[in-house]
Amino acid sequence: MEQTDENSRNRGGDAHPPVIIKASMQAELVCFNAGCRARFPLTEVIYNCPRCGGLLECGYPGRAVDPPALKRTWRERRMSNAPLDRSGVWRYREMIPFLESYGKVVTLSEGNTPVLDAPHAAAWVGLDQIAFKHQGFNPTGSFKDNGMTCGVAQALRLGMKRVACVSTGNTSASMAAYASAAGLQPFIFIPHGNISYGKLAQALEYGAKTLQVEANFDQILALVRVLAERLGIYLLNSINPFRIEGQKTIMVELMDQRDWNPPDWIVLPGGNLGNTSAFGKALREMLDLGLISRIPRLAVIQAEGAAPFYGLMHSSNRSELPKVEHPETLATAIRIGDPVSWPKALHEVETSGGIVEKVTEQEIADAKAQIGLCGIGCEPASAATLAGIRKLRAAGVIERNADVVAVLTGNLLKDPDYIYRYHTGQLAAPSGQKLESTYGNQPVVVPNDPDRIAEMLA
Ligand code: F0G
Repeated sequence: MEQTDENSRNRGGDAHPPVIIKASMQAELVCFNAGCRARFPLTEVIYNCPRCGGLLECGYPGRAVDPPALKRTWRERRMSNAPLDRSGVWRYREMIPFLESYGKVVTLSEGNTPVLDAPHAAAWVGLDQIAFKHQGFNPTGSFKDNGMTCGVAQALRLGMKRVACVSTGNTSASMAAYASAAGLQPFIFIPHGNISYGKLAQALEYGAKTLQVEANFDQILALVRVLAERLGIYLLNSINPFRIEGQKTIMVELMDQRDWNPPDWIVLPGGNLGNTSAFGKALREMLDLGLISRIPRLAVIQAEGAAPFYGLMHSSNRSELPKVEHPETLATAIRIGDPVSWPKALHEVETSGGIVEKVTEQEIADAKAQIGLCGIGCEPASAATLAGIRKLRAAGVIERNADVVAVLTGNLLKDPDYIYRYHTGQLAAPSGQKLESTYGNQPVVVPNDPDRIAEMLA
């Protein structure tokens, strides 16, 4: 049967209505800059505060909820077959109430990602236990889907026809999928030669107009902002506050999965710092609404060659980001030297009593292999988490019996080239220095001969 937009199973439609107990004021865009806090209607197409240039966020003044009732509703929705309820983002719509209606929402059943215990990884870093919240189980294989369903919903609400982003690969894969599913035209801008083939392939397959620019992520973001304005294309980078709203639900779902018991630490990789901003905002809002009783500490891990946020946190002047002009890392997803969301991320790390650490290429590669040996696997940027935990554990910052959740941001299959090179001793750092294949696992070529093979395996 042919499906129209209205009866498509990917469309939100009428699921259980939101249960907000009190929302005395309208949702709005608010300037994040504490000295400004200017407010704007949600329907204004702005990415920075028109008054002071600060970052923008969604604000929900006067919102109040009945925590036990809301938690019950969220649990009940897991039993529902309505697309909106089955989404691990829109199930928690009371946490992201920026839409007036849900009929246009396009969901690909994002979120719903597992929390996986990993005793092998815990032993490797010297912890009693560790769990991975694996965002690589998302429809396009990364956490970007949580935010993209919201960004695209806002694009549809605004009547936009074309959307764009610059990306190190995952945002573009996700945007291409959601835009195409929604009938929007996706334009993606990527650093030529510096994203993994898995991610580039996704963008092509999902039908995005794909422009490979001879520049790095930071330079291309500046370019895309100019083009978006000139051509009236809606920008879906994480500077877009609606993307951040969607990524908040990663933390909401995690708390739901843990029966609302916050861990001691939440560890995540830091690139453009949208996720750090989203996680911190979600945790603060859950605390304010009475859904959790305390905030876990955020530990943000960067790659050594692309660690401006680490530089900021370890500088005496936290009001100016020490940009990295030429960021370098094989974890191409986080190869970013001038992350736009740093003021938000700084606030969230400070509020949570958190920390920022950096790790080497070798540490990332070895941690990645260890995550693989758990039967879990992830892409390189995600493995920065375990590498960072190992370092923080060795320094005594994280205690042996700490309750630690690391967020794996992308699927193992995003970057198979890196994996093959590591296991066959061919992986080299951007500096050209060869990396050790510490936990290498070489494939073996054998003759078609049972005796010889049996001999080898004995
Ligand atoms: N992990 C993965 C797999 C990513 O793709 C990214 C960001 C990050 C971590 C860092 O997250 O930017 O919120 O600090 N990828 C972006 C992209 C930049 O274009 O796909 P962040």
